[in-house]
Amino acid sequence: MSTQVLDARAYQVHVGDVLDELDQFITKNYPDHTPIILGDSNTLAHALQLIDFVGVPSLKEAEVLEVEPGEDSKEIEVANGLWQAMLDLGANRKTLLVNLGGGMITDLGGFLAGTYKRGVPFIQVPTSLLAMVDASVGGKVGINLGKSKNQVGLFLEPVAVFAHLPFLNSLPVRERIAGMAEMIKHGLIADNDHFAQVMSLPEELDENVWLEAIHRSVSIKEAIVRADFTEQGDRKKLNFGHTVGHAIESWSQQRTPMLHGEAIFVGMWCETWLSHRFGELSEVDRNEILNALSTYLPEIALSQQDFEEIFYWMRSDKKNTSALLNFTFLLAIGNSKINVELTQDQVVESLESFINR
Ligand SMILES: NC(=O)c1ccc[n+]([C@@H]2O[C@H](COP(=O)([O-])OP(=O)(O)OC[C@H]3O[C@@H](n4cnc5c(N)ncnc54)[C@H](O)[C@@H]3O)[C@@H](O)[C@H]2O)c1
Ligand SMILES: [Zn+2]
Repeated sequence: MSTQVLDARAYQVHVGDVLDELDQFITKNYPDHTPIILGDSNTLAHALQLIDFVGVPSLKEAEVLEVEPGEDSKEIEVANGLWQAMLDLGANRKTLLVNLGGGMITDLGGFLAGTYKRGVPFIQVPTSLLAMVDASVGGKVGINLGKSKNQVGLFLEPVAVFAHLPFLNSLPVRERIAGMAEMIKHGLIADNDHFAQVMSLPEELDENVWLEAIHRSVSIKEAIVRADFTEQGDRKKLNFGHTVGHAIESWSQQRTPMLHGEAIFVGMWCETWLSHRFGELSEVDRNEILNALSTYLPEIALSQQDFEEIFYWMRSDKKNTSALLNFTFLLAIGNSKINVELTQDQVVESLESFINR
C-alpha cells in the first residue's frame, strides 16, 4: 500500500501506510516535545498495539491516557479528569497530544489540546472510518453537554492528520458501514464519481481502492471546509441527511440505539426523497440513490406514533431556527444546495414514504 498526502488549510492529511511518516513528522517538527497518547480501551488495545508492533520510535516512551469507549466519554467530567492527569504528568506547552481513536477521541482530544494551558499542539490519528473521512478533518473539536451533542467546543486545527489504513482491520464491520454513510454523503453532495467509487468498494480492506476512496472523500470535505471554515454558507452542504438523521439518531437512543452513520442512511433516504418531491432532483437520480441506500439501511421500527418525538428532536437542532426546518437538497448526484426550508407536513411525507418503501 502506498500513501497519499493532501494539503488541508494549515496542515497535511496523510492517508495509507503512514506510521513511518508519522514518526518522521514528529521527529522533524517536535523534537523537543513530549508526546502523550490519548485513546479509548479499544483503540489502545488494537491501534496502539499495532503501533508498538510496527515500532514508531518517537512514540515509544509516550505516556498513555485511556478513557472508556463510547460517546459518554465525550463530556466535561472526563475532560476534567484528563486535564488533571495531564497536569500530574507535568504536561506543558512542550507537550504533543496524539489522539488515537475514532471521532469520540479526536473530538475530545482536540478539545483538551485546545484548552489545556491555552493550547498544546495535537495530531489526529483516526482509527475508525468515520474519523478518517469526517471527524478528524475540518477543524471542529468539542464535547457533549448532557444529551446535547457537540455543544461545547472550538474551531481548531491539528498540526497534522495521519490516517493509517491498517487500523481499519480491527474495526467492527458495523462501524465501518456507518463510516461509509459519510463517504456516500460526500459523493452525493459534491462528486458523482466518488459516489460510484464508494458504491463499488470491495469488502476486503487492504486494497489501494480503499486508499483512493478515503483520500478522495477527505479531499471533498476539505475543499468544502476550506471555502467556508466557520459554516456561514456552503459548509452546510455537509449537513445533507443530518436534519432527519440526527432526529432519528436521538429518537433511537431510548429504543435500540443506532450508530450515527446508520441514522444518517435513513436521513439521506428521506432527504433524497424530499429533494425530488419538493426540489429539482430528477426521478432517475432519486431512484438510483434510494436503491443504493437501501443496501445499507438498518433495521428500524419506525411508525406514525413516533413522528411527534422525531419532530421534537428536529426542532431542538441548532440549525432549525424558525417554524421551518432547514435542509440541504440534492440537485443531482454530485450537486447540492443549502438552506431549503420545509414545513413539518412536508417532511412527514418523506417519513411516511420511508415506512412504506
Ligand atoms: N468533529 C467533527 O467534524 C465530527 C464529524 C463527525 C463526527 N464527529 C464525532 O465523531 C464521533 C463518532 O465517531 P466514531 O464513529 O469514530 O465513534 P467512536 O470514536 O465512538 O468509535 C466507534 C467505536 O469503534 C471503536 N474503534 C475505533 N477505532 C477502532 C479500531 N481501529 N479497532 C477497533 N475498534 C475501534 C471505538 O472504541 C468505539 O467503540 C461522535 O462523537 C461525533 O460527534 C465529529
Ligand atoms: Zn455525520
